[in-house]
Amino acid sequence: MQVLAEIQERRGWRREIWGFDSFAGLPARQAGVDPTIWSEGQYATPFEEVQLRLQLNSRPWLRLVKGWFQESLIADPAASIGPVAYARIDSDLYASCVESLAFLAPSWSSTFGRSTRMSGSPVILVSGWRPILAGLSSIWA
Ligand SMILES: C[S@@+](CC[C@H](N)C(=O)[O-])C[C@H]1O[C@@H](n2cnc3c(N)ncnc32)[C@H](O)[C@@H]1O
Repeated sequence: MQVLAEIQERRGWRREIWGFDSFAGLPARQAGVDPTIWSEGQYATPFEEVQLRLQLNSRPWLRLVKGWFQESLIADPAASIGPVAYARIDSDLYASCVESLAFLAPSWSSTFGRSTRMSGSPVILVSGWRPILAGLSSIWA
């Protein structure tokens, strides 16, 4: 988000940039789905620390939402977010990735592009794609 914020500022853009995180670290991983390198609570960072680092007070177009995706992505303010041009999913765990994709494209599994939040020529970047891909191939097989 810091990089995106700096690019925006250099270009004089004021697009909304949203960040969603539990700020309590990763939820429990699913045995047999997620690799053992990840553990519950890993990456926990206090909201206030991130808020300060990202200088939210002087960047009104930068928004952070605290909570578990299964709750935060189905309620406001997330539910009211308009078309998304770029999304970076960096949530490591398979279930968290699926929850994020479901938010971006509710009809993802049938026809990508229908009933989707993505606009124009959207970009979705998924970090940690290897285990995610393994999980996805198991449901799309
Ligand atoms: C590898 S960290 C990346 C954090 C951030 N993108 C960064 O680069 O600093 C993964 C993040 O995903 C968050 N996360 C994973 N699953 C989540 C879920 N279901 N709900 C909310 N946050 C989740 C964790 O809290 C953690 O901060």
